[in-house]
Amino acid sequence: MADAAVDTVASVPVAVIGAGPAGLMLAHLLGRAGVETIVVDTRTRREIETTQRAGILEADAARDLVETGVSDRILRDGCEHEGVELRFGGRPHHIDFKQLVGASVWLYPQTDVFIDLADALDRDGGAVHFGVKDTEVLGVTTDAPRVRYTAPDGSRHEIRARYVVGADGSRSMCRDLVPEDRRVRYGKEYPFAWFGILAEAPMSAPELVYAHSEHGFALISQRTETVQRMYFQCSPEESVDAWPDNRIWETLQARVAGQDGFRLKEGPVLEKTVLRFRSFVQEPMRWGSMTLAGDAAHTVPPTGARGLNLALHDVKVLADVLLKALGGAGEAALDEYQPRALQRVWRAQNFSYWMTQLLHTAPGSTPFDLRRQLGELDNVVGTRAGRTYLAEQYTGWPTRPH
Ligand code: PHB
Repeated sequence: MADAAVDTVASVPVAVIGAGPAGLMLAHLLGRAGVETIVVDTRTRREIETTQRAGILEADAARDLVETGVSDRILRDGCEHEGVELRFGGRPHHIDFKQLVGASVWLYPQTDVFIDLADALDRDGGAVHFGVKDTEVLGVTTDAPRVRYTAPDGSRHEIRARYVVGADGSRSMCRDLVPEDRRVRYGKEYPFAWFGILAEAPMSAPELVYAHSEHGFALISQRTETVQRMYFQCSPEESVDAWPDNRIWETLQARVAGQDGFRLKEGPVLEKTVLRFRSFVQEPMRWGSMTLAGDAAHTVPPTGARGLNLALHDVKVLADVLLKALGGAGEAALDEYQPRALQRVWRAQNFSYWMTQLLHTAPGSTPFDLRRQLGELDNVVGTRAGRTYLAEQYTGWPTRPH
């Protein structure tokens, strides 16, 4: 029955804050096991669908999308990549994941992962409410947490749950519910950002190109045969208005130029954004009846393409743990979550940090710094151990059985 403050009250075992890939995949996995969820997000479906994010999925994550019945679209519209190219000193260096570690990754934009998950939940009757306001999470230290929110039509709703999951992204409000004296926030800011573009142009290379140059980093990625995604290192204070198309292309071309005469195929820039990033982890990942998943608990720089993969790993573990908790093991089952999720989080933090410092030029860096970086890059591509390290880290780590 509704109380005076709200128009409706719904009861479900798990309430999820955040309808990004983490929140929706969790709802999907729980739904398959017969556990009802309600997911809320302040953003509209259209907003989430049209916000460009990274695009690399580990093979395990790609397989999970197909095998758990989200969609097999990735097999048709995604593109399997068996390696990447590192460019430095004006030369290309191919890292062959398949040959080195027998693994590959899938280029499949996060926006498509979101679309597939949102469609799957629609198909399966999942409850996802987009565009809500005034979300409040109450009673997380009790065994009867509640979520209140205002729907787009102005009506007020309450969800009564046994567990709440904060999957509300890098500006999470759920993580603030862990009291200041009981949480630790580990973080690192970087003195640069990425200038990201979508351009209407043919592909310039068959794989992703991570380029180091004395002018700074660039990444050449892809979306479709006719639309490409590229990034170059810029100042965090950069304004997109200062960047007409010709200046963007000149900058990108200079960063990938080399003795092999490599040139990017140019075309109209459809979208440009400055993406700031940082490394961040909040511990603990659980507080009472609430757990945190994905970017709400940890963010990584995009260089290692780990963010989406980490989020999907979190919710795989979390679904398992929540099912145990709801299946009779009780709240104690939640104790497993952090140890199982966090080891991968810190491994990914290290890898993302390492890739970032390997390829970017820090402001004020000296000719020594540049040459040392080239030495490190030579060590990576020029030794089997170096290539194997990059291949293992980039393609992800197998989930340990529990
Ligand atoms: C992308 O395609 O947007 C992308 C790929 C790899 C990264 C980051 C972004 O490391």
